[in-house]
Amino acid sequence: MALNDDIVNEIKARLSVSAVIGRRVKLQRRGREWVGLSPFSNEKTPSFTVNDEKGFYHCFSTGQSGDIFTFLMKTQNLSFPEALEQLAEDAGVELPKESPEAAAAATRNTKLREAVEAACAFFERTLQSAEGKNALAYLVGRGLSDDTIKRFRLGYAPNGNKLKAELLKKGYPEDVLLEARLIMESKEGRESFDFFRDRVMFPITDVRGRPIAFGGRVMGDGEPKYLNSPDTPLFAKGRILYGHALAKSSAIDRRQIIVCEGYMDVIALAQAGFANAVAPLGTALTESQLDLLWKMVPEPILCFDGDKAGQRAAGRAAGVALRNLRPGFSLQFALLTAGKDPDELIRRSGAAAMEAVLTDVLPLSEVVWRDLMALHPTDTPERRAGFEKAAYELASAIQDAAVRDQYRALFKSRIFELRGTSRADRKGGRTPPNRGRASSQPSPSKRRLDPAFGTGAQERVLLAVLINHPGALGHIEDRLGALKMADSRLDSLRQSALMHLAQQPDIDSQSLRAHLTGVGFARELDSVLGPETITHARFARPDAELNDATAGWDDTFKWRQRAILQQEFDRALAALEADPSDATLAAFQAAQQQLARLGDDDHHAAA
Ligand code: UTP
Ligand code: MN
Repeated sequence: MALNDDIVNEIKARLSVSAVIGRRVKLQRRGREWVGLSPFSNEKTPSFTVNDEKGFYHCFSTGQSGDIFTFLMKTQNLSFPEALEQLAEDAGVELPKESPEAAAAATRNTKLREAVEAACAFFERTLQSAEGKNALAYLVGRGLSDDTIKRFRLGYAPNGNKLKAELLKKGYPEDVLLEARLIMESKEGRESFDFFRDRVMFPITDVRGRPIAFGGRVMGDGEPKYLNSPDTPLFAKGRILYGHALAKSSAIDRRQIIVCEGYMDVIALAQAGFANAVAPLGTALTESQLDLLWKMVPEPILCFDGDKAGQRAAGRAAGVALRNLRPGFSLQFALLTAGKDPDELIRRSGAAAMEAVLTDVLPLSEVVWRDLMALHPTDTPERRAGFEKAAYELASAIQDAAVRDQYRALFKSRIFELRGTSRADRKGGRTPPNRGRASSQPSPSKRRLDPAFGTGAQERVLLAVLINHPGALGHIEDRLGALKMADSRLDSLRQSALMHLAQQPDIDSQSLRAHLTGVGFARELDSVLGPETITHARFARPDAELNDATAGWDDTFKWRQRAILQQEFDRALAALEADPSDATLAAFQAAQQQLARLGDDDHHAAA
């Protein structure tokens, strides 16, 4: 009986009511529900509603309601075991043979669950006790409120074997604690110890919110940073999303879910008002997790660190998704500034900064295209042919024929556009004016860098344009030559690039990058040409038109220039206030004039 419950719930977690019913009844979305013509009566106006969040359908004309199981039983005249068998197959859930062993396993799972729940409660209690003082201070120090700590049931696993002692005292048998991996045996197998010691505890729950495993974090440095429960009969890492139970209803409400990389990110997001956040458990996103996400929303947002590891993770997730794409279902990608995760972003820059990241997402197709561009040069006919082959091979991985055709068509038109760009580049940038080209172009807003972006981002964009478009040298070299960058490594990169270009003005982007890598700028190039630059300034991309690239560069340069003059003005004003003299007054007036002149230029440009 209990076993059936688990399976029924697993199946319900994997199949949405609208998907199951949608195969038989044509459904249309209306607010949070779906409506259609009732299969139980012969009606002309739709009175049949389906609610994915509640997992129910209701027919207003006959008064019937139920879940996916009753739906199949009624509409296909199946028995419950028959409906179970069919839906289990649809959901990819394996049905255990009804056997004495299976019944025993069900009883066993219940006991495991009770033990894990007791452990969770113990860790929570300990966090609030004298023993948990440091751990609580750690969590509070990371900005978590009492409410958040309670909501995510965070806890503390003390040193020693206190969990084991406590749970044995409460009557949980040692073998259950072992199987739940709450304790582990010594090598000789004679003794057992608490698995988690002196760690901050993050309970991992099933989709109903019942704890089934834990992640435990060290409070200082130490390895591993997070220790996770091994898989148990209750817990299979690749089939669980951290935060799923808490995120589900908000995700369905908002029709959006944020997939981030870590426990703390999920929690920080929730505390900042993004309750619809989950994370895989320290591994790449699996197909099974993807199914869970697509069951809630059609285009989950994957949020990755903009650093190299994050990009690789994004690439891997894109690969898994590609194979499994269906019409209407995809992924979106939000790439953060290198080295920052949502938790850090929110702490440093607030929820608004996170919101900005989430509204500036790339579709899967764009991420895939960019990966291809990064891997294959396209500056000669042979290289373009190689690129084309790789692109089509990638598209062939898509199992769904309709989606596969769309990808092929997209690649085809973009590859066609590539020919134009590189020929134009070769001629030194006299490209024809942009005549409002098709959808593959970045949105107009992405032609400019957001002026609110910081010094570092502006400097990187200024360099990225030059490195991706050496043909722009003539247009920008005087100004770039005079612009000392705040970041000293970027400034060295600027000088090296300009110096090399002065010697070899006709060099292409790839050779320029190779040279700069050779002279020790591999890391700087990664950050300059990384997704952050690309996301926030698509005009800096290698596949942007040269005249878009130079126009974007001009804009960015002006923002940078304004920021520098503003700083000089502030400094001169402070100096004048501190020491009013003819010299400080003159310096102040000069700074004031320069700033005013820049404002005038803008005015003329806008007119
Ligand atoms: P990160 O190393 O990015 O850590 O790992 P984090 O989430 O930012 O953690 P804080 O902010 O330093 O506390 C991302 C996720 O990878 C898994 C965890 O799920 C973690 O949340 N992980 C990481 C492990 O399982 N083990 C580790 O040793 C490290
Ligand atoms: Mn973090």
